Amino acid sequence: MTIGGGPRGPAVLVIEPMGNAGRFLVEAAGRLGVRLYAATHKDVHDGYPEWLRSALAGVCATDLTDAPGALRDMEVFCRRHAVSGIAACFELFTPLAALLAERVGLPGNDPLLAHAARNKILMGEVFAAAGIPAPRWTVVHDAAEARRVARSTGLGLPLVVKPAEQGGSWGVSVVDEPDRLPHAVGEAQRFTHAHPHGLRLDTRALVQEYIPGDEFSCETVVADGVAYPLPVVRKDTTEGRYRIETGHTCPSGLAAPLARKVQHIAARAALAVGVRNGIAHTEVKIPRDTQTPYVIETGARLPGDNLCEVVEAATGVSEAVAYLQAVLGRVPDTVASRADAATIRFLLPERGGVLRQVSVPEVPGTHSELHLRPGDTVPEPADSSCRVGHVVARAETVDLASELAGRVAARSRVEVG
Ligand SMILES: Nc1ncnc2c1ncn2[C@@H]1O[C@H](COP(=O)(O)OP(=O)(O)O)[C@@H](O)[C@H]1O
Ligand SMILES: [Mg+2]
Repeated sequence: MTIGGGPRGPAVLVIEPMGNAGRFLVEAAGRLGVRLYAATHKDVHDGYPEWLRSALAGVCATDLTDAPGALRDMEVFCRRHAVSGIAACFELFTPLAALLAERVGLPGNDPLLAHAARNKILMGEVFAAAGIPAPRWTVVHDAAEARRVARSTGLGLPLVVKPAEQGGSWGVSVVDEPDRLPHAVGEAQRFTHAHPHGLRLDTRALVQEYIPGDEFSCETVVADGVAYPLPVVRKDTTEGRYRIETGHTCPSGLAAPLARKVQHIAARAALAVGVRNGIAHTEVKIPRDTQTPYVIETGARLPGDNLCEVVEAATGVSEAVAYLQAVLGRVPDTVASRADAATIRFLLPERGGVLRQVSVPEVPGTHSELHLRPGDTVPEPADSSCRVGHVVARAETVDLASELAGRVAARSRVEVG
């Protein structure tokens, strides 16, 4: 089924543009004169915000959980609309994007490896095969098995327990005593289907060695198998059992040789999971007093968390533009045009409940957005769904940007009852 029409220009089909990176793709498509089509379920499309609905040249309505059927529908759609690039916003659909690109003969990722960018068990296997530094891990099917393997594998304590397929720290927890393992495994295994399409998930859990140290992320855009590193970003997270990302800052503050190493490892991770024409978001931790970035995960997609905005504000590089260029088979524009700084800071509640009141002050050099409104339910601060809002600050230096964002956060009020 086709809904809508639009101006001419090269066409890109995005498999589910809903989500944080969608708005940056829409903006990038506008800049490049690209017609953007979406592949999604009709019911999900019904819930699209107006800015997304009106930005699309058309919609391929299909059931993305039925891969063979969706591939057939999308192939017909691509031919009818002369689509010349396939993109995916949603991590879980990146393997489907690779299959579709191969089927219609467009630039895309390696379909044989693409599942490794979605499933952390396969990811661990390809990282090990490629010799990429990463936490040691084992798979568990239930809590009893977790206790056994924790004793026998020598992964030590603390351990990290996480779902094979999920994001936003959902179901991820750090366990510092073996007695807590059964609960942690239960939390990691509670996701059987992914919202909003109802895609079935691998419910196995991973038990991983804990990597201490600072955390960073880095995108890699790949065109015709050639990796172009994008800027490194410092990541702040909560401490303790649940690691929620609390902010991101660019530039990262790493000395140039170590930042280069992060970019190098991120590019190796992207290539290892089969990214050939697209982008990857890679997260690493660097144990203190070492120069070795360990890859925590990589996804064959644009980053979430407004990282596109943070990186562009700091460096002038549009990751969404580079991604569209890569999927259209063009050379991506990854050259920095400025050396400023930007940071995003998320407003977190102290506990779950009902949001009674929220206020964020306006400070020059910053802008804020609320994710939840008074009356909304605030989830327990265990994953990124509890974020009440965010502030982005841009300035000439990281210190100034952090100071601005800190000032806004300090004067913000989040009341949960
Ligand atoms: N092996 C690990 N060692 C230390 N911290 C980890 C490890 N795995 C995950 N974390 C922490 O948990 C966060 C979420 O885990 P991650 O694997 O990135 O899952 P998600 O796909 O939900 O983002 C990471 O950003 C990191 O802070
Ligand atoms: Mg992550």
